[in-house]
Amino acid sequence: MVQNTVKAKLPTIYVIFGATGDLTKKLLMPSLFSLYQHGALPKRFAVLGFSRRPMSDQDFRKLVSSYFPELENSARFKSFLKLLHYEVGNFDKSADYKKLANRIGAFDNRWKICTSTLYHLAVPPKYYTKITEHLAKLGLTDKCNAKEGWTRVLVEKPFGSNLTSAKKLDATLGRLFREQQIFRVDHYLAKETLQNILTFRFSNSIFEPMWNNKYIARVDIKFLEKIGVGTRGSFYDGIGALRDVGQNHMLQMLALVAMDNPRQVSVKNIRSSRAKLLSQLANVKPRSKTETFFSVKAFISSNRWKGVPFYLTSGKALQDKNSEIVVYFKASAPCFCRAKHGEHEHPNVITFKISPKEEILIKFWARRADLIDDIEARNFRFAYHRPNDSKIRAYEKIIFDAIKGDQTLFTSTDEVMAAWRYIAPIWQGWGRLPLVKYRRGSAGPGAIG
Ligand code: BG6
Repeated sequence: MVQNTVKAKLPTIYVIFGATGDLTKKLLMPSLFSLYQHGALPKRFAVLGFSRRPMSDQDFRKLVSSYFPELENSARFKSFLKLLHYEVGNFDKSADYKKLANRIGAFDNRWKICTSTLYHLAVPPKYYTKITEHLAKLGLTDKCNAKEGWTRVLVEKPFGSNLTSAKKLDATLGRLFREQQIFRVDHYLAKETLQNILTFRFSNSIFEPMWNNKYIARVDIKFLEKIGVGTRGSFYDGIGALRDVGQNHMLQMLALVAMDNPRQVSVKNIRSSRAKLLSQLANVKPRSKTETFFSVKAFISSNRWKGVPFYLTSGKALQDKNSEIVVYFKASAPCFCRAKHGEHEHPNVITFKISPKEEILIKFWARRADLIDDIEARNFRFAYHRPNDSKIRAYEKIIFDAIKGDQTLFTSTDEVMAAWRYIAPIWQGWGRLPLVKYRRGSAGPGAIG
């Protein structure tokens, strides 16, 4: 749900490459409809799907309405469907891009303005270069005149499959677009709790003075999933968990929890603070690896974090779904409790829950209300109570910010490269480690620490 929206005013066409795919079905369409319902889309706005499957505008609208059977009788949804258009096209064929250009031109004529265009590459990465080069050939990577509108491109992860291919992709995009036009998606950055980490840390003076190795003992970053590889087997086989979620979502979780205060809420400062933190990652100790599970003990080479381990753990087909960051503080020693309870472990713990729950918990110790003197753990709890799936909400923010032109929640070249520089040696080193097996639905291949 988007509230207090600053409405983007310029007429905009949102071109989706891969309009009949899973991303469009599961995330883009629900997010677009939600933005529409909340009045967060520009007044003159059109979606133009571009895919191989032959279809008319009407067929495309029918296909999209089949994704929302519960909205069959909704007048709101019917008027939303009118925004949807479709052009059949093969990503290899120049002639098809000409048809696309004509469709875009038709909107310009209808609205009597050089329309702003947002291209979303909701397709496998192997098509990125091909599509953007075709667009560039027809002059579609730039706006139609210098005075009006803008042209931007949304690029989904994975951004390359190693440092070399990421550099190559970045060079291609850099040749065809300016950096302000490139929006590299990491949907975790757009999750509410993840955005809230910076607010939590830098808007409350009680936490930041303790956010360092003097007070913090360790940090766990977990990305545990109940779902298995599912139908994505062929994609996953060539990628694995470390590159699927480690190189991007988890390192961004780490960056936000550990970075220095950017001092200013600006795109430049926030991105460069994240990038700086990622470039300080050092001292890797991979612990175990299978296709679908990994755990890494990482250190950050800065005075603030010297000696504090960051454990990154991720797995598929586990007991539960749980993405969270857990910050363990050193216990005040000795325990302020009766001698017989001196053995109490009593650390404070702050947990940022990101998916599927979105909440922040602070574990503190209090005196138990009892005749017996003892202490017990209690939680301060902050929770969002919002109906939509957090992933759909993240995509609302992604589309909204891309239309607005705000790149804060998108990764910069520096961040992507720093993340690959860190991940690449771990990934290469794993060939020398034995494979550890774990049972589907279990807690993974064993405790780490
Ligand atoms: C995607 C990964 O980026 O994130 C998937 O490719 C993973 O493998 C998904 O399942 C998890 O996202 P969320 O928002 O459901 O936690």
